[in-house]
Amino acid sequence: MTTTAESPVSLTSPIPETGLDPLDPQFQQNPYPFYRWLLRHDPVHCGSEGTWYVTRYADVRLVMSDERFGCASVRDYWEEMVGPGALQTIMRDTMFFEDNPHHMRLRKLIMPVFSPRRMRAMEPRIAHVVDELLEPLARRGHMDVVSDFAAPLALHFVCELIGIPPEGFDGVRRWSIDIAPTLDLVPTKEEIARGNQAMQEFTDYLVWLVEQRRGDRRDDMISVMLEEAEKDQSGYERPLIMNMIVSTVISVVFAGHDTVTNQVSNTMLALIEHPDQHELLRRDPGLIESAVEESLRYDSSVQSNSRRVDEDAVIGGRQLKKGDFIVALMGAANRDPEVFQDPDRFDVTRQGVQPMSFGAGMRYCLGAVLARLELRAALARLIRLDNLRLDCDPADLRYQRSSMFRSLVDLPVTFTPVSEYPPR
Ligand code: HEM
Repeated sequence: MTTTAESPVSLTSPIPETGLDPLDPQFQQNPYPFYRWLLRHDPVHCGSEGTWYVTRYADVRLVMSDERFGCASVRDYWEEMVGPGALQTIMRDTMFFEDNPHHMRLRKLIMPVFSPRRMRAMEPRIAHVVDELLEPLARRGHMDVVSDFAAPLALHFVCELIGIPPEGFDGVRRWSIDIAPTLDLVPTKEEIARGNQAMQEFTDYLVWLVEQRRGDRRDDMISVMLEEAEKDQSGYERPLIMNMIVSTVISVVFAGHDTVTNQVSNTMLALIEHPDQHELLRRDPGLIESAVEESLRYDSSVQSNSRRVDEDAVIGGRQLKKGDFIVALMGAANRDPEVFQDPDRFDVTRQGVQPMSFGAGMRYCLGAVLARLELRAALARLIRLDNLRLDCDPADLRYQRSSMFRSLVDLPVTFTPVSEYPPR
């Protein structure tokens, strides 16, 4: 089985008459035939339960960047879904559920932490942590790319940026796993209960950490937010309180952890499925930058983002009404034949790729520079492993059930163990 099938455009729709359902197991396993059909036959699609799905590059960019498509009204739906508890109390303040002016205020507040200069200064540390993680695995000759390498790498840098010390990493990973299902799909009662418990423990830990940091300022996100909270007699309608600090920290953990983990894994799978491209890259590491952009385009870890229509609007000739839900399918936009020639081909030499994977406009991913640096550093080492191949039947590869992310459960690989590290 190829997970990213490349069959010609189907004349029969893969989508049922009731409309696209992103939880359909076939869509979960491989959404690309669905996108291909939608892009060519129904680019602004009314799916199951009346949710709109946009697929074209230009329409996706519009939905993600135009203030008529808001996030604050998604919060009402989410709060009702999870009910009262720690999840609701903390996440009602997340920047993901804010529109302007409050969204911009929170964004500006943490933006200095993500400055390109600051990110580039992290480059040697990123290379170092990649080596620390990879050396024992490279000597062993097999690994699960997801849990042995990509997840600890992503967690390390998101925590470092925030100011969470290494002793806290395990807890953050555990709490994130339990909270994640409540931020994505329609969660079960058990998932909500587990999510509330984890959110409470995560919050208790962060409140403790923030109190510690009050007397011990550093060059991290918690310190930046504390400073702002202290001088916050600023006339803002909503002063920056502990709840906002905690919810911003937790939001950044979510934004920067699974996204990078999954992108590293999706990239490695694409290279394993396309040995000719892998070989090209091994012969010319100068192609690493374009390979990272191509992998973001070809199989993005973030496939979609949701909005709610705050003002009636027309897109692609379809009338959208205030209150409608609308999903921007970035995974589809990345395969738009109007923008990318032969879009289903994985080509590490492709030039000028601007993937939609980091979003657009006022919510464009703040961590894009960091993510790219992590991906390049990881790829530079991983492609050097000889005889890299899957350590399972490709048909056994599974994706986490998710409406937003393309997230491999695991990616077991084998390769020739190295006697000398780094491999040449
Ligand atoms: C391959 C990795 C990543 C992908 C594909 C990705 C994708 C995205 C996307 C699509 C958005 C926009 C969401 C929307 O419009 O609703 C976003 C926002 C954001 N991302 Fe990333 N991201 C990645 C890595 C990171 C990392 C490493 C961090 C931080 C450590 C980060 C922090 C953020 C933040 C804070 C926002 C919110 C920006 C705002 O609302 O103004 N991301 N990301």
